[in-house]
Amino acid sequence: MTAQLIDGKAIAAKVRAELKDDVAAMIARVGRPPGIAVVRVGDDPASKVYVTSKEKTALELGFGSWHHHLEATVTQAELMALVRRLNADPAVDGILVQLPLPRHLDANAVLEAIDPAKDVDGFHALNAGLLFQGRPRLVACTPAGVMRMLEEIGFDPAGRNCVVVGRSNIVGRPMGLLLLNASATVTICHSKSDVAAEVRRADLVVAAVGVPKLITGDFIKPGAVVIDVGMNRTPEGKLVGDVDFEPARERASFITPVPGGVGPMTIAMLMSNTVTAAKARTS
Ligand code: GUN
Repeated sequence: MTAQLIDGKAIAAKVRAELKDDVAAMIARVGRPPGIAVVRVGDDPASKVYVTSKEKTALELGFGSWHHHLEATVTQAELMALVRRLNADPAVDGILVQLPLPRHLDANAVLEAIDPAKDVDGFHALNAGLLFQGRPRLVACTPAGVMRMLEEIGFDPAGRNCVVVGRSNIVGRPMGLLLLNASATVTICHSKSDVAAEVRRADLVVAAVGVPKLITGDFIKPGAVVIDVGMNRTPEGKLVGDVDFEPARERASFITPVPGGVGPMTIAMLMSNTVTAAKARTS
């Protein structure tokens, strides 16, 4: 079997197209578009690429968009003061503080300072807790994007063995909870797991560890759905996922490419969360 590719670019474009009507409706209703503020600290090159792409998409959709770029030497107090200012700004519906932050800053304290109603990353403990309880409000963008991709290919997780590789707060944990909330039987693997044994039983594999080719082709159960969240740079500068793509493709039913798979979905879902937050704040 050669897997069908899941075209993240096309699905992300569909999500963005759906949002255009929401933007127009909001302007008609409250006289302004949804607004997102992105905060970037320091000069991490990958963060700069992500943030530029987020801003470009927000502007294309006609959102209000603000970018705050702070020096790497900014103090915790200064960063917290900016977050409080954005919390109080009525034109800002969504606040995103790009991670990672420089080491001298306490990222958890910053994320907890964001108004949960504006937490379009879904990283605040309140939003993470609501997801944990099965009553999600604002959900982390990458796992939300994966769920949308599964919907698009007609994969219903209910009763299926779904294996998430990675337990980060950004992807692995919320991914596991979304799948659990969709009635999957969920396994979350980490550095102490027998990853090969767990993945071999999986009807769905979501790889989110950041280790190139950790998931080799022989791990994949024939017919499984393979979602690769990994974004790793090879020494030659090529972008590769966590899955050894070509051999996995020969066994899976559906697989995401890297790039062009999950990547484009994250930003589309960020825009979707901003619309959700804007609607909730203005209704
Ligand atoms: N760094 C890597 N991924 C993300 C993300 O989804 N949101 C934020 N804020 N930072 C990130």
